[in-house]
Amino acid sequence: MTTPTPRTIRRALCPGSFDPVTNGHLDIISRAASLYDEVVVAIFVNQSKSSLFSVDERHEMLSEGTAGYPNVTIDVFEGLVVDYCREHEIPVIVKGLRAVSDFDYELQMAQMNRGLAGIDTLFMPTNPEYSFLASSLVKEIAKWGGDVSSLVPPNVLKRLKERTGTSG
Ligand code: PNS
Repeated sequence: MTTPTPRTIRRALCPGSFDPVTNGHLDIISRAASLYDEVVVAIFVNQSKSSLFSVDERHEMLSEGTAGYPNVTIDVFEGLVVDYCREHEIPVIVKGLRAVSDFDYELQMAQMNRGLAGIDTLFMPTNPEYSFLASSLVKEIAKWGGDVSSLVPPNVLKRLKERTGTSG
């Protein structure tokens, strides 16, 4: 009798600031979750960038937003994304591409990460419905009371209203 070869678990990383998570992020995360056995969503702690939500709040919002995907976990990292990948044996980074304008910078990072540690990047075209969507715009619109209910999940909308003191 032959011993079955153990199947390698296919893992992918979705890194980002997620300040806050948007429907665009969740679209990419859910699609990655259907392609890979395990998906780690890693919140990058950037000390030099001010954020609207704390890392714990961002973690909570992501956990709530991905609760329906049992193979998705949320983590936090500080440092190089390739070091995180190596430590957690994750060979691929999944990134959403909204428009051509994203491409230059994302390509540069992808090539750098591959050169640094052999970590590959898979680019996923975003759903056209979210091609204009960015956390920074969501925050600005919410701050001035604009309607962002179609851009973020309800748990994020609630927190945005509380944080910005608006009813948007
Ligand atoms: O949501 P963001 O802010 O666009 O995410 C950018 C992020 C966190 C994915 C990117 O800045 C990153 O990977 N930072 C980690 C630090 C790092 O590895 N930098 C070198 C990239 S070549």
